[in-house]
Amino acid sequence: MNRQTLQGLALALMIGASATALNASAQTTAPASATAAQPWLDPKLDADTRADLAVKAMTQDEKLTLVFGYFGADMKPKYTRIEGSLPGSAGYVKGIPRLGIPEQWETDAGIGVATQGSAKEFRERTALPSGMATTATWNPELAYKGGAMIGSEARNSGFNVMLAGGVNLVREPRNGRNFEYGGEDPLLAATMVAAQIKGIQSNNIVSTIKHYALNNQETGRFILSANIDQTSARMSDLLAFQLAMEQSDPHSVMCAYNRVNSVYACENDWLLNTVLKQDFGFKGYVMSDWGAVHSGSKAVNAGLDQQSAGEAFDKQNFLGSVLKADLASGAVSGARLDDMARRVTRALFASGAVDKPVKIAPIDFTANGKITQADAEEAIVLLKNDRGLLPLAKTARTIAIIGAHADVGVLSGGGSSQVYPVGGRAMQGLEPATWPGPVIYYPSSPMKALQARYPGAKITFHDGKDPAAAAKLAAASDLAIVFADQWTTESEDVWTLNLPKNQDATIAAVAAANTKTIVVLETGGPVLMPWLNEVGAVVQAWFPGTSGGEAIARVLTGEVDASGRLPVTFPKDVAQLPRPKLDGDPKAPETPFDVDYTIEGAAVGYKWFDKKGHEPLFPFGYGLSYTSFGYSDLKTSEANGVLTVSFSVTNTGTRTGKAVPQVYVSPKAGGWEAPKRLAGFKKVELAPGASTVVSLTVDPRLVSVWDDKAHGWSIAAGDYDVALGASSRALSVTSTVTLKAQALPVSPRAR
Ligand code: BGC
Repeated sequence: MNRQTLQGLALALMIGASATALNASAQTTAPASATAAQPWLDPKLDADTRADLAVKAMTQDEKLTLVFGYFGADMKPKYTRIEGSLPGSAGYVKGIPRLGIPEQWETDAGIGVATQGSAKEFRERTALPSGMATTATWNPELAYKGGAMIGSEARNSGFNVMLAGGVNLVREPRNGRNFEYGGEDPLLAATMVAAQIKGIQSNNIVSTIKHYALNNQETGRFILSANIDQTSARMSDLLAFQLAMEQSDPHSVMCAYNRVNSVYACENDWLLNTVLKQDFGFKGYVMSDWGAVHSGSKAVNAGLDQQSAGEAFDKQNFLGSVLKADLASGAVSGARLDDMARRVTRALFASGAVDKPVKIAPIDFTANGKITQADAEEAIVLLKNDRGLLPLAKTARTIAIIGAHADVGVLSGGGSSQVYPVGGRAMQGLEPATWPGPVIYYPSSPMKALQARYPGAKITFHDGKDPAAAAKLAAASDLAIVFADQWTTESEDVWTLNLPKNQDATIAAVAAANTKTIVVLETGGPVLMPWLNEVGAVVQAWFPGTSGGEAIARVLTGEVDASGRLPVTFPKDVAQLPRPKLDGDPKAPETPFDVDYTIEGAAVGYKWFDKKGHEPLFPFGYGLSYTSFGYSDLKTSEANGVLTVSFSVTNTGTRTGKAVPQVYVSPKAGGWEAPKRLAGFKKVELAPGASTVVSLTVDPRLVSVWDDKAHGWSIAAGDYDVALGASSRALSVTSTVTLKAQALPVSPRAR
């Protein structure tokens, strides 16, 4: 039985339950202290030594305890949550009290502390904007602060493992989970996701980067084979993991549901043993996704270290009773079990989870609401503003607000990462009510936030369902703001990039009735905009989180600059995509099929569009500001094989704003997967007339190709164009640099 079926079953049993904040059952709160007999508890020793010492003291059963996890929510009648786990949580692994090794309390995920949909009671917490939105800030500092905030809520909710850090690239804009991830470029995704992981782990808890690897669509995710040549994989999706892991040291990696080149990711020796542990030098543990384990000794010998929620989701307790039998028969060696237990234990020491045990504590939701709001404000991307409609004129007397429940709240994405909002949902009774729902609007109304700013104006709401009625209201108003949304979720893809529920018709009708029409989009990722030429302004607000309404209002009114930039290409048409038709059939979830990623190889997103010469609707890196910027003085230099770029950015407009200068590199001789790659970026705030000099060092792998024979990276000698500008398609300043031939190891940490 797959996760959807099980969660649906559990949810069916809980309908009608009331929502209250969850409290933990008994938790260990005091760190065990070191004695001569338990030297591993000495915090002065390093994590490796401590893990070695602890594992030596463990019995075989104790080691086995650490590698087998339980689901933290009920799925009756199949499964009942075990004692010790936190209600409504993703997972739980027993500890070894005799040795001072704590339990592992696991929670999803990237936007905050989630509650499993099957829970009877909801844990109400602060939600960040979606991962895609945070990436759209191009501001790693905000990602760090957001990570630190949700990590603190996890800690104060009693969790010491946060299943956060989704870095799957957007190969498929229809992927229902794109909202959880970091966009389409390996450097941008890695930088932003790494900053979040660092923030989470600053709370002395474990963060789990996921889903390793090539889990780039939801349709058929349990069965599909993502096929790609190893070289392209290393230069795209795996590079995103590699760079993110080097920058943030996540203590755990979650292997994905899908197969990669026919072999399940959680039993894929090449992915786990060769690439992750040997080449990337990963010292933490590999945990499985929930229901992603299909074998015992095969998975264990391929590098899987911990089975998550085994009893609830997998066919067998592969890393439980099956592993015990495999140890007895010799199918798995004692040394391998030691390695698994050592990796888990090391993570608990290295993160601080042993020395600083988690403890339920109060949460400052007001302070945390400001952190998520700052993130949302910088995430919002101004896509079009050519009739001077934004910032909103102070003189507007009558404003029509139409659609997307903007009178009460903002939309959030669905599935296991769902955070339940503090103060309850803005809307009840939306479909789907059960897995992968419920559909949740956070109670942060853009309309109320605007009303507070325009006390004298008449602001009227229309639900937008009847395009003609919405147009009538728009015609009678000074301006119209149409909110349009698209719920996306784990476990389902969207089958069309058009907005659902006839919203395109509503926007077109409103735009025809009032030339002063502004569209605000709350979507998981790119959508098509057949009405684009008819409207005056378009604002991409993604899923903006707990304080989203306030953030949208502040950008619309110009209290803050519009400073988000697209982390993903918006296509004009699905015909431009590597796979115009999404592979798989949701009605046949058990039928294996292949997804051919050799079509684009490493040319993901804008690289594909550049290679094919496609004109996107909006390009990667794009976004307008309320001011204007000039770029100049581009200088490049090469020292010891490392490329450094410096340049000036000037605010040439009349108000303070934030620029995101981007540097792209192209070899003159070609030879890459696509014409150019993002090599560096920096977000800078500038007062009108002010300039700053930015200097960036380019990671050598971003000017290399993977050389399979040499098992490393290789820079080809020659001239390279370095281009600077405001997006991947607005590169105004260029320079040329000559690089020497160079061979680099697979990673600075390769064993
Ligand atoms: C998701 C993971 C999540 C896990 C635990 C799975 O269905 O793919 O991202 O962490 O469930 O809830």
